[in-house]
Amino acid sequence: MSSSNFPSKTSRLSENYGLETFKEMRKQYKEMISTLPKRESEYPFFDSCQYEGFWYNSSFLESALCMQQNFKAQPSDIFLCSAPKTGTTWRNALTFSIMTRHDDFTNSPLLNKLPHECIPCLELAFLSNPKFVDAELPLLSTHLPYTLLPKSILESDNCKIIYICREPKDTFVSWWHFTQKIKAKLSSKVSLVTLDQAFKWFCQGKSGYGPYWDHILGYWKASVERPERVFFFKYEDLKEDTLGYVKKLADFMDKPFSKEEQERGVPQEIVSRCNFENWSNLEVNKSEKYIYENLPGVSNSLLFRKGDIGDWKNYLTKDMAKFIDDITLEKFKSSGLTFASSVK
Ligand code: A3P
Repeated sequence: MSSSNFPSKTSRLSENYGLETFKEMRKQYKEMISTLPKRESEYPFFDSCQYEGFWYNSSFLESALCMQQNFKAQPSDIFLCSAPKTGTTWRNALTFSIMTRHDDFTNSPLLNKLPHECIPCLELAFLSNPKFVDAELPLLSTHLPYTLLPKSILESDNCKIIYICREPKDTFVSWWHFTQKIKAKLSSKVSLVTLDQAFKWFCQGKSGYGPYWDHILGYWKASVERPERVFFFKYEDLKEDTLGYVKKLADFMDKPFSKEEQERGVPQEIVSRCNFENWSNLEVNKSEKYIYENLPGVSNSLLFRKGDIGDWKNYLTKDMAKFIDDITLEKFKSSGLTFASSVK
């Protein structure tokens, strides 16, 4: 990717970063986090603690709190937000491709790297290399709920947010498979969680960055209040009309396709390169390499399973489906937000 197409940036890390005051701040976060309510985690070797209503791994939370105070959003930044298993990787590939389409697609970093390696993740940066957030491309990703985003994002009049969500039953099924596969990969000694147990946790809001419904609501409300700043969409709609959404995303990102690009079929090319079939078959995406050193067991291939709508029918009983649908209806009532299979 050529870098000259993006304005050179000042650092996104505050001047405190690296100084004694910063180290002291981290120490205080660690101490505070050690006092938070904990629960059994679905991820082996990870804890899960509750902070301001949401469940996090404590290292990610520490990193997120550091970012909350020390991250300086740039006016042109676009934040790719989502709860896990809702189409994060696909959305990131599409937006990355839209943003970098001035380069020949045959040179795209996505042919050899996951979007996770091309787009810095806010809450993981402090665990590995905080300077990664200084990447030139104005795209950053996060699973953090709206309320825990860095202050500089929430208070900005310029930067934008793109949020993808997914029907809760399919999200649950995708999450359950994901965590089971990680466990199976890591050790035969790690016990698997039954679908029933995982279902109970998910419905009680005890999933990574959950309660899932509250995660969605935070961004939904922000999109209703500031539609010009927050683009909210559903995995199901993206599947239904990928080309239409690629164009809408490009418009929202202030990177609309020119007439000439449309005639050359550039939006169609992006859709086709990132579609499940083509993309999951790239060597990099079939790889068993771990995405992050500090996230054992999460290999590239785990990010691709089926990519279907309605796969929950193969796993949930009618009663389970009704149970989740009832939560969805209750949580979203009077918000104006609906999911097709939850509407009675
Ligand atoms: P399933 O487990 O239902 O197959 P995330 O990226 O947020 O972890 O989401 C993972 C889900 O997105 C998985 O769903 C995965 O298969 C699906 N997915 C990944 N790439 C996709 C693509 N190009 N098109 C459609 N779905 C995709």
